[in-house]
Order: sequence, then structure tokens, then C-alpha cells
Amino acid sequence: MNINENYLNLKDSYLFALVAKKVSEYKAQNPGKEIISLGIGDVTLPLAPAVITAMGDAVAEMGRGATFRGYGEYQGYMFLREAICGYYGKKDVHLDKSEIFIGDGAKSDLGNILDIFSTDNTVLIPDPVYPVYVDTNIMAGRKIIYMNGNTENEFLPLPDSRIKAGIIYLCSPNNPTGAVYDKGRLKLWVDYALENDAVILFDSAYEAFVRDRELPTSIYQIEGAKRCAIEFCSLSKTAGFTGVRCGYTVVPHELTRGGVPLNELWLRRQTTKFNGVSYIVQRGAEAAFSDGGYAQIKESIGYYMENARLIAEALKALGIWFAGGENSPYIWLRCPDGMSSWEYFDALLTRANVVGTPGAGFGANGEGFFRLTAFGDRDDVKKALDRIRNI
Ligand code: MLT
Repeated sequence: MNINENYLNLKDSYLFALVAKKVSEYKAQNPGKEIISLGIGDVTLPLAPAVITAMGDAVAEMGRGATFRGYGEYQGYMFLREAICGYYGKKDVHLDKSEIFIGDGAKSDLGNILDIFSTDNTVLIPDPVYPVYVDTNIMAGRKIIYMNGNTENEFLPLPDSRIKAGIIYLCSPNNPTGAVYDKGRLKLWVDYALENDAVILFDSAYEAFVRDRELPTSIYQIEGAKRCAIEFCSLSKTAGFTGVRCGYTVVPHELTRGGVPLNELWLRRQTTKFNGVSYIVQRGAEAAFSDGGYAQIKESIGYYMENARLIAEALKALGIWFAGGENSPYIWLRCPDGMSSWEYFDALLTRANVVGTPGAGFGANGEGFFRLTAFGDRDDVKKALDRIRNI
């Protein structure tokens, strides 16, 4: 037996697992210390009432012979795919139900989609960015070219016609920087992908946090994108589903390469390797897209964005440079006093008992930066900001 040696090229731990390990070691050495986490982007508010009611009803259905359900539809139940089509319709994006695939979250699909692409594709990945894109491509042994995100380009790298790649990752609103591509800049990527026969993997997990109506919340709002992009989205942050698990991936029928529709390849992959998300969860997700459910979800998003405002206000008063927090739940700040991002992580953990995420974990260009999440409980956020002020 030969192992997949590509795994030996990975960093020892996945970023958020490493942070969790460091925090639990610190807790073990300092029992009784109250640690506040503004680290991993995990939601703290409970599920919306409409979601709870729908899931409760679904549980009851599963308990009656007449309404019990076994395996569901491979692509997800029609009622949920219809609800998602309706959601896109409000963005002026018209999708067919057969273009939507329900999954257990954006992370899984972003990794699994690579099954349908040859390993000899070169991959373009922004730096800094969500580490899953890099790790999953290292596992498959693909060649990665990094695109520099920095303060000069507002952490929104643009295409370079001299660089050729088959697969391009874009994350907008960006995790970790909170930067959002406007329509003009996103169009440059769509044009580049069409010219080069490349495919864009567009992660829009944070689209519900965009408040500026001029900014795109789906790549399909850009002309030509259905011919070159797959979009990944999730209810994790939108509807508080980090523990419930439900997301969706859009593979348009117009997207073909070498005469092969990628929708068919992904369907083939999913029917073989995935048996779907539970009926109960899909009913909860459907409720999240109903008018009443969506209004409740928007309230939670408003709560988190108020946290973001408080964090931004505190950093401004301290004279610390930061970005994000306006159309995204993440605040991206420059570590004070020229500290490295892991030095600042240690300082915040040990001196303020506050956990954040070191920018270097998102790529080399994240060194010297740090990410705080706005998903915390309000009182915890206020307490954490007091402690940061004090140190
Ligand atoms: C994050 O903190 O970046 C996310 O919560 C991680 C994830 O979605 O897997």
C-alpha cells in the first residue's frame, strides 16, 4: 500500500484545528480563565423560529408511517431547490432547479468538486484566503499559483493575462479580509476565464452580509458567468446552520468544457458518493428562504453586523488599521507594533484571554494581519473589546 504522499506536503494541522489546540492547551494550563473566542467564524444566535417550526414538523412527519421518508432525491428535494431558485430570482439570476445541488455545506463541496477536474490543471488561488482551497489542491497534487492580495489592490487580486490556469478560486465577500469584488472587477475575472477556457469556483458563503446594493452577491449577476463559473453557498453563516449543515452548489447547464456539461459530471459524482442532506434539515433550509424566515435571519445578520460596527469603532479609536466589517462579518486588522500574526495571537490569548485568527494561517500575504469575527455574543464582544483596549 502506498499512501497519498501529497498529504506530506500539507501543514501539520488545518488552521482552525491548530487554533483550537492552542486554546485548549492554554485553558488546561490556566484553569478558571474566561476565554472569549472571536476566532473561528461560528455563529452564536439560535436558529430562526420559522426554521425550528419547519424542522419540528418534519420530525413529526418522519414519525408517521404515511409521511415517513427514506432516501431523498440525489440533488436535494425539489421544494428546497425551488426555494433557492426563488431566492436567486430576487437577485435577477434565473436558474433551473436541475442546476442546483443541495449539500452539507460549502466546505465539503468546495473540496469535493475537485473530483471532476483533472489533476494536471494549474490552480489560481488568492492569498490570503480560506485555507480549504489550498489544502484540497495540495492533497490532489495540483500546481498552485498564488495571486497576491494586499493593501494596494484592496485584497482583491485581478487577472494577469500572462498567467494561465484552468481553475480559479474567488471568495467574495472574502474570508478573511472582508473585501468584496464590485461588478467591474468581477467581470474582468469572467472575461479572463472565458478567454482561457478556465473555470471559476466562486465561494459566496458570505453573500447575505453584503449591504451595499451596488455590489454583486452572485457571480451570475455578471454577463457570461454561467459559461465559466460554479457557485458555492451555504446556510452556515446566513441562517446559523454551522451545526445543522446545509449548503448548495450551482452548476449551470451552459458550463461545458471539451463538449462535456460539468453539471452532468457533478451529478454523476454526487449520485455515487453522496446520499444527500436529511429531509428534516432541508425543510428547515426551505423555511429559511420563506419571506417570514428570511426576515428573521436578516435580524440575526443585523445583530452580527452591529458587533462588526462595535469592533470597527474600537479599532478606529485605537488607531489600528483594519478592513472589512461593512459587507462581511470579518474584520481584518494590522497587528499592532509590527508583531507577526502568531505573536499577536499569543499576546491576545495570554494577556487579554481573547482568541482571534492569525492572518498567516490564510496565506503568506496574511502575515502581520489578524482576523476577528463578528459572530460572537454581544456581551462577549464588548468584554473582548474592553480587554483589547486595556492591553
Ligand atoms: C472560518 O472561520 O473561516 C469558517 O468558519 C471556517 C469554515 O467555514 O469552515
